Amino acid sequence: MSSSKMAESSNKTVKHSLNDDYDLLKPITSTSGLRQGLTSYGDAHFSLFLRKVFIKALGYSEDALSRPIIGIINTYSALNPCHSNIPQLIEAVKRGVHLNGGLAVEFPTISIAESFSSPTSMFLRNLMSMDTEEMIKAQPLDACIMIGGCDKTVPAQLMGGISANKPVLPLVTGPMMPGSYRGKRLGACTDCRSNWAEFRAGTRDIEDISMLNEELAPTGGTCGVMGTASTMACVTAALGFMPLRGASAPAVSSARLRIAEETGANAVSVAAAKRTPQEMLSKESFFNAITVLQAIGGSTNAVVHLMAIVNRHPELQGEITLETFDEIGRKVPLLIDLKPSGDNYMTDFHNAGGMLALLYMLRPVLHLQAMTITGQTLGEVLDTSPFRSFTFSSEIIRPFSNPLYPSSSLVVLRGNLAPKGAVMKASASKDRRLLQHSGPAVVFKNSIDLAQRIDDPDLVVTKDSVLVLQGIGPIGNPGMPEAGLIPIPRKLAMAGVTDMLRLSDGRMSGTAGGTIVLHISPESAIPTSVLGVVRNGDIIVCDVERRYIGLEVDPNEIQQRIAERQILVSAERDTSAGEVAKKRDPAKRGYRALYERHVNQAEDGADFDFLTAAGQDIA
Ligand code: FES
Repeated sequence: MSSSKMAESSNKTVKHSLNDDYDLLKPITSTSGLRQGLTSYGDAHFSLFLRKVFIKALGYSEDALSRPIIGIINTYSALNPCHSNIPQLIEAVKRGVHLNGGLAVEFPTISIAESFSSPTSMFLRNLMSMDTEEMIKAQPLDACIMIGGCDKTVPAQLMGGISANKPVLPLVTGPMMPGSYRGKRLGACTDCRSNWAEFRAGTRDIEDISMLNEELAPTGGTCGVMGTASTMACVTAALGFMPLRGASAPAVSSARLRIAEETGANAVSVAAAKRTPQEMLSKESFFNAITVLQAIGGSTNAVVHLMAIVNRHPELQGEITLETFDEIGRKVPLLIDLKPSGDNYMTDFHNAGGMLALLYMLRPVLHLQAMTITGQTLGEVLDTSPFRSFTFSSEIIRPFSNPLYPSSSLVVLRGNLAPKGAVMKASASKDRRLLQHSGPAVVFKNSIDLAQRIDDPDLVVTKDSVLVLQGIGPIGNPGMPEAGLIPIPRKLAMAGVTDMLRLSDGRMSGTAGGTIVLHISPESAIPTSVLGVVRNGDIIVCDVERRYIGLEVDPNEIQQRIAERQILVSAERDTSAGEVAKKRDPAKRGYRALYERHVNQAEDGADFDFLTAAGQDIA
């Protein structure tokens, strides 16, 4: 730069700075940049003055501070390997923001990793959503990029972002690469579970399982199969929130960094357009997301998350129900051959074209007028798909004429055992005969009871028994743990049994498979729950074709059991000893107390009642 140009530029900066200082005295009406959401000191001009004093301590110039402010939520944690690439992603995001005239500012929220959260990561999802919502609302941001990845983080951020209703752009960390052991590919976490089941059955020894432990997660990133993290990434893209390639690019790839840069660039234009999530989302966006969920054989957890997400939207709350999932499922085949329903890994999906190819395949059943975050409709995005000019065929992304499963990958069951619904991933059943099955119940009161008795050689159980686990619903075991994949009793596993009909009010990892009925509602902790009064030997009927799950016990007998249980529960509640014990239980204070008091049932998203869009109406 010539010296005269430099002087000109420098003068501009000084002039700009003076103007901005004079602005301190002008009426504060702006809802953008540093002037939005001022701290309350009773003097708005002083609030702005003070804000500028402190932000300048970080070395920002007036020029930088005059740009659109793009927040970047940093959820890096040394206890979250699924988020290990976040520092690199932040650098790339900043590049995208700055190249397009914005100012990137990162800030932290809590981070949740699946296997490092007790009692379960789901227990913390609503806390993270509150953290996300409040920090987006509280700070002067024109748009915010929310970096997440591990199972509960993306739904938490979407829930918080929709409630905050500022322009938000999710960016996922991306899936890990598959590993390899003795010439066979491996990936967390479907193969963690299948190999552990083999170890329990005695077909793998301790040396083998220890060696496998080193290879199942060979890089950072989210689980490398169609588990909850990958499902939520695909669903988020289908909702229109991110570039389609952003759902599947591996965590350690250069493509992932380019998507981060693109997200940074998009954030500046989304900030300028003030495009909020509540404005962008429509009923059709959710129809598309559910279509994708069915076509990918996605995680059952996504049903709970999507219900929580839609119920944060004031105009869409109540528009999507469990029935919507079932209705769409009847028309949509499973097209993706990925574990746990199929055989492959997320990297294979990405290499086969990922969401761009899948959505192009699904085009006839999608709602193409749905809006995306950049302002294009989904149809316009797909018009630029490289897959539009040739007939796409792949073993990983199947055509409608050659699906992996004909339809209804995820089904919603109802009956006297689940009057408010239950969910099953039928496509992940290992023994399809169990999709129509009746057998005697073997009941476990809770996960402790399960752990104590499941491998008892004297347990009265056969391969035709129905394993029932109570007490793991949203209230019963706060966080609704992923214990729905009840292990096959060791004595049956050793005899070669690999699948049984299993029922619970809890959840299951998206990476798991089997004939498993989940999210039974009302959960057994509720005194009127039928699941709560199932006894050993009761006959349970499951008929997926009829979408039925029932308890073959005389209705009068069921009512009598419920009445007896209610008397028992209120007697316990009324005893002063019980009251004292309750008050002194340290586990019942703080967030846990809030959780137990306010969590709603699975079919509503297991959100807190006061966080839903109707929350303000709750007495
Ligand atoms: Fe984080 Fe699977 S443990 S995505």
